[in-house]
Amino acid sequence: MSLFIPPDYFRELQSKEIFGDPARPLEVELGCGDGTFLVGMAGENPDRDFLGIERMLGRVSKTSRKIDRAGLTNAKVMRLESAYTVAWLLPTSSVTRLHLLCPDPWPKKKHAARRLVNQKDFLDGLARILMPGGEFLLKTDDRVYYEDALASFATRSEFVQQEWPEAAFFYPVTDFESHWLEHGRTIHRARWQLIKA
Ligand SMILES: C[S@@+](CC[C@H](N)C(=O)[O-])C[C@H]1O[C@@H](n2cnc3c(N)ncnc32)[C@H](O)[C@@H]1O
Repeated sequence: MSLFIPPDYFRELQSKEIFGDPARPLEVELGCGDGTFLVGMAGENPDRDFLGIERMLGRVSKTSRKIDRAGLTNAKVMRLESAYTVAWLLPTSSVTRLHLLCPDPWPKKKHAARRLVNQKDFLDGLARILMPGGEFLLKTDDRVYYEDALASFATRSEFVQQEWPEAAFFYPVTDFESHWLEHGRTIHRARWQLIKA
């Protein structure tokens, strides 16, 4: 079943409740949209599990259908809000990589606080759910969002920015990224590793 419904929305999940085997690496994509990236990654990496988080029902259904059509057992999608999922729901020290790809940019100055990377609860949650050595990967077409992220992470000593050269590893282009590339937009990318004892 590719649709994941938490047994309880009001307590931290246990790793085994998501895919069954907590020993397998878990990657999470926030705002997974139509599931292009999630399904591409899960198909290429059968030894890892992939959980997509998405709040729009139509996109959740589309992702779920794609997972089922591809016959993947290592991908699931959950309908929930990203900030809540990171701050409260995902298990502590459980995630090897968390992907945030072409997030809604919230371009108006008065909405800047809505950008996930500007939220203390999100950064605290990220530090909680990533395994030591785990990574947060961001791609955005929005220069201001990118700069906000760089500034925000620079204030957190537990995260260390890593190089991310083009084609460093398999990383499918997302639906929105293809769209922006077709329109000549630059995609900014950055990657941070959690360093904690
Ligand atoms: C611009 S789209 C990008 C979709 C996909 N990542 C891509 O690159 O094709 C942003 C996605 O994030 C979802 N989203 C935005 N805010 C969210 C939130 N707070 N919680 C969960 N999903 C969210 C939207 O519904 C949308 O599908």
